[in-house]
Amino acid sequence: MKILLTGGMGFIGSHTATVLLEAGYEVVIYDNLCNSNASVLDSLETITGKRPSFVKGDIRDLTAMTAALTGIDAVVHFAGLKAVGESVAKPIEYYDNNVHGTLVLLEAMKKTGVKRLIFSSSSTVYGTPTTLPLTEECPTGTPTNPYGRSKLHIEEILADVCISDPDFSAVCLRYFNPIGAHESGLIGENPNGIPNNLLPYVARVASGTLECLRVFGNDYPTPDGTGVRDYIHVMDLAEGHAKALPYVLNHKGWIAINLGCGRGYSVLEVVKAFEKASGRKVPYQIMPRRDGDIAANWADPKRAFELLGWKAERNIDDMCRDSWHYEAKRSGIEA
Ligand code: NAD
Ligand code: UD1
Repeated sequence: MKILLTGGMGFIGSHTATVLLEAGYEVVIYDNLCNSNASVLDSLETITGKRPSFVKGDIRDLTAMTAALTGIDAVVHFAGLKAVGESVAKPIEYYDNNVHGTLVLLEAMKKTGVKRLIFSSSSTVYGTPTTLPLTEECPTGTPTNPYGRSKLHIEEILADVCISDPDFSAVCLRYFNPIGAHESGLIGENPNGIPNNLLPYVARVASGTLECLRVFGNDYPTPDGTGVRDYIHVMDLAEGHAKALPYVLNHKGWIAINLGCGRGYSVLEVVKAFEKASGRKVPYQIMPRRDGDIAANWADPKRAFELLGWKAERNIDDMCRDSWHYEAKRSGIEA
């Protein structure tokens, strides 16, 4: 089976590539490297002993996309821009890259007769939850930013494509909060500039690259007042994609599936777990709430278990250990 990963050089795509290569799939990565580095190919080869094919290209380039899809059995579509704050400042770029890019990919798939797609969606499509845990039956809400809206638009486009073509299969994987890194420490999440997300920020405070964590709000209706999220190890997420592949190859139609652990951790619980994993202090100060944040969300991951036979195996200590290992290597603390 030959699988094309758009955006496969990025954080989640590269971890998924290790699992697919080890499972014996032939992997083609298609990426324009706008948020990743070609050196990931060497890391993938060191980890798996196999080097995936790589095409440097943009999903919005119909000719290149069509050429890359020839002979492909299924697509896993990671490519997209993902910074929430930046999407507010640059909505046109975000809709162009994410929504228009997906439309071009779909056109190229139509031209080449490829009808199997797994899409990187997000729990952000639920908007502000009215009940927890979130099942896939919960109504999608109004995401608070263009990034989130682009994910919802793409899910809806895929549902329409499945209606128009009964042979098409689209699995929208709704990720909760992916963190951690491959246990080798060779690949992980390395955002440019100052990280927006909690874990990369905490990791850089622990390594001394940043001084102090700002905790956004301690007056939420949660046990310790800080925001609660369903953090999931990126390798569990990667394995979820490997389990979704046989499903997408053997089923038709549209479906959404949550990928989360099914339990939430507060910001302060994460800080504590990270201090334990790293043996370092993570100083923090309480700040006002961040615009657009919700108090809590976590998944009901039952559907993933029932349909894919998948459940997350790694806990918060594993996530923090592997995040720390990657950060320690990245910052030169560990060789
Ligand atoms: P990432 O930025 O590390 O990876 C995305 C990859 O896509 C990068 O390698 C980038 O170079 C590539 N890319 C972007 N635009 C492209 C284009 N037009 N053509 C070709 N390649 C392009 O991000 P990630 O964290 O690995 O996320 C992967 C997907 O999962 C994204 O669609 C993201 O929105 C979604 N997602 C991520 C999270 C998260 O917390 N990381 C949560 C929910 C959903
Ligand atoms: C955000 C995005 C979501 C995206 C996800 C992963 C919003 C509203 N949602 O989710 O669309 O899929 O990132 O990229 O932005 N926190 C701090 N200090 C920090 C950073 C975060 O206290 O420096 C807190 C936040 O207030 C929140 C928790 O940590 O309670 C997690 O934040 P973050 O990692 O940014 O993820 P989300 O906001 O859940």
